[in-house]
Amino acid sequence: MKRTISFVLNGEKIETEVEPHWTLLYLLRERFELTGAKEGCGMGECGACTVLVDGNAVTSCIFPVMEVDGKDVLTIEGLLGEGNELHPLQQSFLDNAGVQCGFCTPGMIMSAKALLAENPRPTEDEIRYAIAGNICRCTGYAQIVKSIKEASEAKSNKQEK
Ligand code: FES
Ligand code: FES
Repeated sequence: MKRTISFVLNGEKIETEVEPHWTLLYLLRERFELTGAKEGCGMGECGACTVLVDGNAVTSCIFPVMEVDGKDVLTIEGLLGEGNELHPLQQSFLDNAGVQCGFCTPGMIMSAKALLAENPRPTEDEIRYAIAGNICRCTGYAQIVKSIKEASEAKSNKQEK
């Protein structure tokens, strides 16, 4: 039986009908066509589906959609600024070759976003710990860590979105 939930999605108030067995990832991709979050494993193991719920990084592939009710959801699409200006993390991943195939990138960036909100100047170890749940099969992680480090040092990051 369908239920109605309301929540904030990338800054916009949403009220929508859902099936209670849906996951947040299904809602984002199939109802709202927000395809940045990816389904890799579908089991909470790879981090490709990471989005923020009330500022916390969650694996949306196993996050029950009913738990979104009344919460604030931020996806990679919500990081763009006015005129589609890239968020400092997005820009840094481009500048530092933190993206290869790109499949892990939205999840990596959302985990990094949660980290920098709590810890604006993380050490390399802290960065590696924060993205420990995000698997990348391409980069070897060095460029990803560099991207996050440089974003944390960027002046523009002080006006955290
Ligand atoms: S798809 Fe969600 S953790 Fe892998
Ligand atoms: S860039 Fe391909 S999985 Fe990370």
